[in-house]
Amino acid sequence: MNITGTGSAHPSLTVTNEMLADFLDTSDEWIVTRTGIKQRQIISNERLEDLAATAADNALTDAGIKASELDFIICSNVVNEYITPSMSCIIQGKIGAECPCIDINGACAGFIYALDMANSFFQSKSEINTILIVCAEEPTRMVDWQQRNTCVLFGDGAGAVVLTRGNDFKAVKLTSISKSEALYQMRKLESTPFISKDEPDGPLVMKGQDVFKLAVAASLKDIECVVRESGNTYDDVDHYLLHQANIRIIETIRNYINQSEEKFPHNIENYGNTSSASIPILLDELNRNKQLKCGDTLVLSAFGAGFTAGACLFKWSKN
Ligand code: ACO
Repeated sequence: MNITGTGSAHPSLTVTNEMLADFLDTSDEWIVTRTGIKQRQIISNERLEDLAATAADNALTDAGIKASELDFIICSNVVNEYITPSMSCIIQGKIGAECPCIDINGACAGFIYALDMANSFFQSKSEINTILIVCAEEPTRMVDWQQRNTCVLFGDGAGAVVLTRGNDFKAVKLTSISKSEALYQMRKLESTPFISKDEPDGPLVMKGQDVFKLAVAASLKDIECVVRESGNTYDDVDHYLLHQANIRIIETIRNYINQSEEKFPHNIENYGNTSSASIPILLDELNRNKQLKCGDTLVLSAFGAGFTAGACLFKWSKN
């Protein structure tokens, strides 16, 4: 499997740390020091499905193919305004594709899970030659905007890749640990005449320090596994693209495997944590800025709610 196109899309509203300090007991200094985030793009009048379709169109243009040529669409999404239909089905209509589609909810690690699914489709279904992955997320609609420990962390956006058959994808490791108490959100469903249980409803709840430790431990294990399984060393990897959740998580992992800062590109300062969209958005930025060379080795590693994690290693063969 090879990546032949990347794309992304962001909401138009930029919210700086100073703007948050107008209505929250927080400061630019606290947010930058603890997270690395300076600003984020937040949905105001846009719809997530439109951002998703724009990211998809951009990836298709980059790959030089038409939507009608797609054989499958996978959308990674935690929450959006639709319970049904699936976001991937909505994207299919917006971009003019006709292939089967499915949504997955792997939280912030969703892109890695989607890549692994796509790779399996190429291996098991001879009729599939081109797959679109779109990661579209609006985590700013999950948090309580009075709670400074969560709302300052997130931003919205969409990232997409087009995949074709090839040998670039070398190794993947997926990890899931059922730890919902570390990061969860429960919402009330419609009532029925038969419901008698208590049903919690509310914003995202996160034990920040627990998530921090889980993220570092899982990411280090996953990265070690894909580097070893592909017959590489940490030094052989040219770019480590980590989930953009907290610059201190990225720095802790980087220091542990003793690699240079240049190998860990980041854009968390501009976008905050966009959940599963964060890595494809970063990948698109590097691709468009010509920071990836044909033959480069990339490791992606992501971690998120509840708790899921995953890493993969692949070669970049796009010019
Ligand atoms: N502004 C000012 N003060 C704040 C803020 C804020 N925005 N948020 C918390 N504080 C205060 C707390 O109230 C606390 O005050 P106290 O000591 O008087 O009680 C103090 O700062 C320290 O709080 P901690 O929670 O201990 O701060 P910590 O250094 O752990 O940083 C953070 C918090 C940034 C959330 C960190 O734990 C973290 O990044 N964890 C990982 C979270 C993460 O990555 N989540 C996303 C991954 S999953 C996904 O992507 C969906």
